Amino acid sequence: MKVLISCLFLLAVQLGAAQNPDWFPRQQLLTIGVYYYPEAWPEEQWARDMDNIRHLGMEFVHMGEFAWYFEEPQEGQYNFDWLEKNIDLAAKDGLKVILCTPSAAPPVWLLQKHPEVLMVDAQGRRMQFGARANADWNSPVFRDYVAKIDTELAKRFGHDPRVWGWQIDNELGHYGRGFSYSEATAQRFREWLKNRYGTIEKLNQAWGGSFWSLMYQNFDQIQIPNPETLVEGPNPHALLDFERFWAWSAADYLKMQADILHRYSQNQWVTTNFMAMDGMVNPALSQGALDAFTWTIYPVHGGLGDGPLGFRLGNASVMNFMHDFMRLLGPSGPMELQPGQVNWGQVNPWPLPGAIHMWIMQAFGAGAKLVCTYRYRQPLVGRELYHKGLAETDGVTPSIGGREYEAAMRDIIELRKHYDENAQEPKLLASRRTAFLISFDNRWDIENHKQTVRWNTLAHWLKYYRALKSMMAPVDVLTPDRDFSKYPFVVAPAYQLVDEDLIRRWTEYVTNGGHLILTCRTAQKDMEGHLWEAKWAEPIYDLIGARIPRYDDLPVGVEGTVVANGRNYKWGSWGDLIEPRTGTQLLATYADQFYKGQAAAVQHTLGKGTVTYIGVDTLDGKLEHDLLYRLYTAAGVAPASLDPDFIVDWRDGFWVATNFTSKLQMIPASANAEILLGKRLVAPGGFAVWKEK
Ligand code: GLA
Repeated sequence: MKVLISCLFLLAVQLGAAQNPDWFPRQQLLTIGVYYYPEAWPEEQWARDMDNIRHLGMEFVHMGEFAWYFEEPQEGQYNFDWLEKNIDLAAKDGLKVILCTPSAAPPVWLLQKHPEVLMVDAQGRRMQFGARANADWNSPVFRDYVAKIDTELAKRFGHDPRVWGWQIDNELGHYGRGFSYSEATAQRFREWLKNRYGTIEKLNQAWGGSFWSLMYQNFDQIQIPNPETLVEGPNPHALLDFERFWAWSAADYLKMQADILHRYSQNQWVTTNFMAMDGMVNPALSQGALDAFTWTIYPVHGGLGDGPLGFRLGNASVMNFMHDFMRLLGPSGPMELQPGQVNWGQVNPWPLPGAIHMWIMQAFGAGAKLVCTYRYRQPLVGRELYHKGLAETDGVTPSIGGREYEAAMRDIIELRKHYDENAQEPKLLASRRTAFLISFDNRWDIENHKQTVRWNTLAHWLKYYRALKSMMAPVDVLTPDRDFSKYPFVVAPAYQLVDEDLIRRWTEYVTNGGHLILTCRTAQKDMEGHLWEAKWAEPIYDLIGARIPRYDDLPVGVEGTVVANGRNYKWGSWGDLIEPRTGTQLLATYADQFYKGQAAAVQHTLGKGTVTYIGVDTLDGKLEHDLLYRLYTAAGVAPASLDPDFIVDWRDGFWVATNFTSKLQMIPASANAEILLGKRLVAPGGFAVWKEK
């Protein structure tokens, strides 16, 4: 009996271990790999290509992303032998394999047999075969086909130890011409609404049906709010619900696929490659369904960026923000990081030599567990002819990007030797750690009803984010379901939709000693997007120690001035006109317009903590920076003063600096720091890694 019990115990331990395997061991730091599409190259080149991937130092290979036709050339006839062969070749080269579900590229026979699964655009046009991502993930017929091919793949490879993980689909939502306006989506939207509201009366109330007689009598009458078929723009409440539904349905589709993969696999992790900063699909909704959180990022594709070299370096803040968001959801990293020039920008310049290497080191510093690049070989046919890969068009010569990936991998291998499992986050950094609270609902609601063309929600967020990075404050981007109570600082920018619970949590947080920073447009509406039947933004008056009776915004070309500590700042998009209560400190005032002298930013001490309310959105974010800097200084956390495009992070004992500016930058290292990679003076597009003694 005793033996049986201990055997059972051992088995349970083993099963437990199998369910929580260490897919991304800490001491490995970061691993680098590449996409390879064997189905697009002659069989006799597979072994050579795989060897060359290994010679570049890559540690894993990513396959099967758009290969549905090759996996199921006719309905129900599966062919995975070619994939098996490549998995074998990869394993012989010591490469781990990420396999993909092919749902982003349904084969012609499927679409011919079931044209109803194709998505419909806002003009009512059904898409056709001839490009990827043309099917509607809300179509039950399509979902059945996806479930079948996923099941076959998972049965075949789910227990294959050579397969390390899975990627579902490709950039869900990106290529779909926006939303799908198909009947299948409309039908699911109605079901979702029924579930949310229960009765049509409740929906009418939430959507404000009394305005313009927009009353529904039953759920079947509801259509997707489509700007193309509405005489005046959509009802904002209906649109907000549709956006919520759409993100939910994307997460539901991912979960459907993830569940199948999990059912048949034991030791493999599952992810999808989300679009960086995409507003339509919310990765946070996939917590619990996915094991890793990866995304795609192409920093250089013709945008200008900051400074003369910005167009060759990419946007430091956007990249880092993604890391700081996705890292909180699980093991994370970019699944597609640019390998060189791309083909789809307005113009497609070269990244600055060294920039690709720098991006990889930035990912390392920000805590990424993996970096993968799209793609190994440059395509010779198809839509992406001018897209670089790690190999040139001859299929064998490493490209400049290929050499940079190789060098980065060498660096990581070197850094692994210096890994110290006992490394603790430096106290000063921990004391500045900031929760950055975002909600997709807010972003949708504000963007749906901006009130001024000058407003840009993402740009507003990034003004604060850049200020934080320049102060070398570690940032965790959190959705409101997460606990922020332990952070010394919380920034919640333009937090338009609130409920009582959030206000209670904010109040408790501050009373207990936290520093809360709220910004313009906060708490104007409830979770349905209705204004309060109360004073404007009244639910936060006690919290911020002030009233916000009104706001202003200025026409394009007109700039208002705000003054703080004797410095002038320009604004134009949004200005809350604040009336502080007695005891609330004035931080900034309007210096012109008919409300000259009125407060633009205030600070309220509440219990052991403070609430800073910055009611104005300045053109360049300098006021936001200066007020944050003052607050962090007063809180005793000695903020740094870096260029916001010179990113300094700490990870597992390593300090990492990456220079996205067009100037030389000095790393903030002590005199006896050990410089492991790079130099103290970092060139544009360069990086340095060091350890403090
Ligand atoms: C996206 C896609 C890839 C590929 C690249 C090209 O990120 O996910 O399949 O098309 O763009 O840059």
